[in-house]
This record gives sequence, C-alpha cells and structure tokens, in this order.
Amino acid sequence: MNYRHSYHAGNFADVVKHAIVALILTHLKRKDAPFFVLDSHAGLGAYDLAATESEKTGEWRDGIGRLLAEPNPPKELGDYLAAVRRLNPEGDLRHYPGSPALAAQLTRPQDRLAFVELHPEDHAALKRRFAGDRRVGVHHGDGYAALKRLLPPPERRGLVLIDPPYEAGDETTQLRQGLAEALRRWRGGIFVLWYPIKRRSVVDRFLADLAMLGPPPTLVAEVTTRLGEDGDRLAGSGLAIVNPPWQLDQALAVLLPRLATILADGDGRHRLDWLVPEANHSSV
Ligand SMILES: C[S@@+](CC[C@H](N)C(=O)[O-])C[C@H]1O[C@@H](n2cnc3c(N)ncnc32)[C@H](O)[C@@H]1O
Repeated sequence: MNYRHSYHAGNFADVVKHAIVALILTHLKRKDAPFFVLDSHAGLGAYDLAATESEKTGEWRDGIGRLLAEPNPPKELGDYLAAVRRLNPEGDLRHYPGSPALAAQLTRPQDRLAFVELHPEDHAALKRRFAGDRRVGVHHGDGYAALKRLLPPPERRGLVLIDPPYEAGDETTQLRQGLAEALRRWRGGIFVLWYPIKRRSVVDRFLADLAMLGPPPTLVAEVTTRLGEDGDRLAGSGLAIVNPPWQLDQALAVLLPRLATILADGDGRHRLDWLVPEANHSSV
C-alpha cells in the first residue's frame, strides 16, 4: 500500500467528488428520518494543506484553491464550500475536509456514519479524529469486506461512497464485485463510485462492465481538465452514481460546466449521462 491521499487532498479530482457528495447529503436531509453514510475507503478524514505531502505537490491550489478564489461560485457549491470554510475559522485555507469530515459536518445528530480504512496509520488518525463523535464508527480493514458486513443499514436510506486508490491492478474488478454484492444486500442505497480518467477506453470498459451488473438507475458525472489523455496523468474525475437523488441530474447540469470552467485553463469539459436510465425511479 503506497497510496497516501495527503499528496492529493483538495485537488481538482477531490473537489468534483466532494461537491457532488455534499449535494447528495443535502438532499438526504430533506427528510427528518435518519440515514446512514458508509465511506469504504475513508483516508485520514481531513488534511493539513501545510503538511509536507500537500506542499510537495501543491495540487490543492488548482482544486479547492481555485474554488475558494471564485468570486461568484454556483449555489450548488454552497454547502460544500461552507463546510470547507468551517474547518478554517481563521479565514485562510489551511485545512481541507476529506470525505469523512465533510460527511460528519453535513449530517445531523440522528444520522449514523461508518468510515473504513486499511492503512494502519490513516486508520489510527481517523479514529482519533472522530473519537468524540458518537454517530461515527471507525473500522480498520478492507472496504469491500465492509460493504458486506455493514449493509443493509437499519435506517434503509443513505449513501455509500466507494473511493479506492486504484493502486491494485484488479481494483476495478474488486469494485465491480463489491458493488454487485452491495446491491444484492441493499438495492435501494445511493452508491457513489469514484474513478480516475486517464484513458477514455479504460473508462468506457469500466462503465460498460458496471452496466452489465444491471444496476438501478445510474448517472455518470465527469469533469476533465485537460485534453489529450495519455494513460498516465490524471485528466479527469468521474463518478458513477447509483440511485441518484431526485433532480440531482438537474443540479449537476448547472454545476459540472461551471467546475470545468473554474478548474481548467480553457480545456475543461464535462459529461453527464445516464448509464442506466431513470425510468420508474422514485426519490430515495
Ligand atoms: C482516494 S483515498 C480516499 C479519500 C477519501 N475518500 C476522501 O475523499 O477524502 C483511498 C484510501 O483508501 C485506502 N485503502 C486502500 N485500500 C483499501 C481497502 N482495501 N480498504 C479500505 N481502504 C483502503 C487508502 O489507504 C486511502 O486512504
């Protein structure tokens, strides 16, 4: 396990993912009934952008750095940017919420959260960070195994984020099998799968394989920040969203083009399609 998210926290790929996760959590809060959040590959929880790893790459500058500098951000970013600002009460950007800190901020006392992390140091840090939050369970181990163990949740509503590092050669196979198993247990859950865009043909194959599982309605949302995918460097950030909340597609139709403009230097593009169309889909 070499991957450490601290090098990449707050980069353009993170902000696309986190902005969409925030929109989904906001939607879930429209009903008072409690919901469950499972983050199967949780990372550290939150990141110090002044730490050596972040300083070394400086990737956050072209991600959250750009969004916070935007004079007129779209309202669809409201809750997400407010969560980032709450972590930085002094004003200057120093701390960035990973998906766990974002979810913890954007949920209510009646909601429940489970964070799973395999790296022992990151798991220990995650456990320390959320020690005082009784809504949160922090688990050490394999996120795919946790999908089996923790689903379906008794709340019967909520969000599962699957955000692996794509270090292992068979990560997409593990992810597909993990999703298949999770859907067998909980077909009504909202599942968000993040994927890197490095080469279009690889992404197309990944999405076609997902469609072969016969999932419920699934929306594909992508932002690419440069043209010419060479297979090595990250060109874009993609999310497959199974059972997206009602009208998320409309919010993303506004948000994604704005993100593509803000996060790229003229070559930004977005994609918003149904991998599995929404017919007969009702709000979760
Ligand atoms: C992309 S990072 C997660 C970032 C986090 N979701 C966020 O948005 O802030 C992927 C994380 O998965 C962890 N990881 C790798 N393999 C894992 C596995 N099999 N189960 C759980 N976590 C794993 C890595 O240590 C890393 O912290």
